[in-house]
Amino acid sequence: MSQIHTYDVIIIGGGGAGLMAALYASQSAKTAVISKLYPIRSHTGAAQGGIGAALGNYEEDHWEWHAYDTVKGSDYLGDQDAIEFMCEQAIQSVYDLEHFGLPFSRTTEGRIAQRPFGGHTNNITGKPVRRSCYAADRTGHMILQTLFQQCVKNETVFFNEYHVMDLLIENGVTAGVVAIELSTGEIHIFRSKAVIFATGGHGRIWDITSNAYAYTGDGAAVLLRKGLPIEDMEFFQFHPTGILKLGILITEAVRGEGGVLINGKGERFMEKYAPNIKDLASRDVVSRAIYLEIKAGNGIDGKNYVYLDSRPDVINKFAAADGKTRPDGSPYLVTAKEITDKIPDITDFCRTYLGVDPVVDPMPVQPTAHYAMGGIPTNMYGEVIKDVNGTTVPGLYAAGECACVSVHGANRLGTNSLVDLVVFGKHAGIKAAEYANHNELQPLPNDADQFTNIQIQNLKNGSGKEKASHISSEMKKMMFDLVGVFRTEEGLTQAVQELKILRQRFLDVRVSDTNAVFNMELLSTWELGNMLDLALITAESALARKESRGAHAREDYAKRDDSNWMKHTMAWLEKDKVRLEYKPVVVTRFEPKERKY
Ligand code: FUM
Repeated sequence: MSQIHTYDVIIIGGGGAGLMAALYASQSAKTAVISKLYPIRSHTGAAQGGIGAALGNYEEDHWEWHAYDTVKGSDYLGDQDAIEFMCEQAIQSVYDLEHFGLPFSRTTEGRIAQRPFGGHTNNITGKPVRRSCYAADRTGHMILQTLFQQCVKNETVFFNEYHVMDLLIENGVTAGVVAIELSTGEIHIFRSKAVIFATGGHGRIWDITSNAYAYTGDGAAVLLRKGLPIEDMEFFQFHPTGILKLGILITEAVRGEGGVLINGKGERFMEKYAPNIKDLASRDVVSRAIYLEIKAGNGIDGKNYVYLDSRPDVINKFAAADGKTRPDGSPYLVTAKEITDKIPDITDFCRTYLGVDPVVDPMPVQPTAHYAMGGIPTNMYGEVIKDVNGTTVPGLYAAGECACVSVHGANRLGTNSLVDLVVFGKHAGIKAAEYANHNELQPLPNDADQFTNIQIQNLKNGSGKEKASHISSEMKKMMFDLVGVFRTEEGLTQAVQELKILRQRFLDVRVSDTNAVFNMELLSTWELGNMLDLALITAESALARKESRGAHAREDYAKRDDSNWMKHTMAWLEKDKVRLEYKPVVVTRFEPKERKY
């Protein structure tokens, strides 16, 4: 018999969105967080370069400029009502984090320091604006530490190393979740009035990724199995600067601090692709530029990578050419110490993994699968939506990378992931607590844990003809090659076919470890099933969208097509079939126009 726990609000995931939701929900409701990791090990820690907010600490800035840049960055697919809400709220959210104790880097006057980041501009000059509020290159880590401490102070209950495998819905209303406790293998039923999914993204579907091993799309996959849809899965961001072959993120802050991308001919090639803001164009533009350079034979030594150069003499040379100045108007001249102080973690990663010191040598980089713009559809209060009309599921919420509000549309701007998770994490927490305080627990059937047990038994009883590791590496390589930065009809059709075969083969996998204690083989095999489902939906959604927009670049439909495709994809997984429907984009004040950087 499974243990039963009862709470008002259950939050799945202990990253930035989950902790923010917990902080606010716990103010008025009995709240618990269930996390497959220890919260401070969550992937929010990988967000290095900062959180965007128009504080204007060095120069003129406005939340409306932030909103316009976000809409433009999204290639006009982001919902503008939600974007305006997020960018306005971003300012107070950053001050809230400061008051919670987050150790931001500081200006000489003691204000929160801000740096330029890709796609963030002064809307009058079109030049980069310092909008990213940062704590060196450890902003995400600092958010996790700060929020976790606040949650501990508020006596939030944590179930760490519990893996949620099922959502309970009774009579169309949220009733709780079912989880496996990793250290014992026991199944636990969590009854609750409200459930918030904050389970992060699914970048492990791709071979080269900046994403943590935990990023396997579990939350979205659990909801798909309950017949709920997923939104805009064709839009997955490739960050331009991952460490060659390893994919580990080299923050955009390197370019914010003046670093430049250099091809095999020694050229600063972004001058060609984005003459106005060059290396600080949006990520989709920069990643494509790197691929085009490589395709033209301009990779380093003709190979599949370029250099990110942050040597002080190189930064100073290009800053002088750009007429870049410091906030006080003096010439922009940096020293090696200044660079190392501003990007200490990156310096460390490069020394450790590449044997390269970023202030002495250029860093070899390639685009790396980084961020899911798509996910569980929600409105701006975190309420999960179940159809194209915006009908909500009572008691069910999602926030952070696993959710699609949609504020990132077809391409997210750097720093907006942290804005998203603090703003929408907070509002999901508030709404869920409010809901819990006005509604009763749903009665549970006796067999509430049945589907979880069936999933586990299926994994243990497969024929054993197939190995999970083979299926996993075939999926990742194929997704990187065929559903990556550039896509074609032929490649996507092949990807869909291969994924259908891989999903069939997955049924023949058998978990050989029969132990109950920390059976990581069982869990990673279950995660592979989640990734296969999400990969299939990604490929099908990409195949259907016959245009290029943001991170979705079709070689055969190279132009954005606003007449036919200003709409969000909603996808349902019905056994082996993906069913697609569409809903319109919300436009408030920014009519779509051609993007130029
Ligand atoms: O480049 C970075 O520091 C990543 C930040 C982000 O994805 O927002």
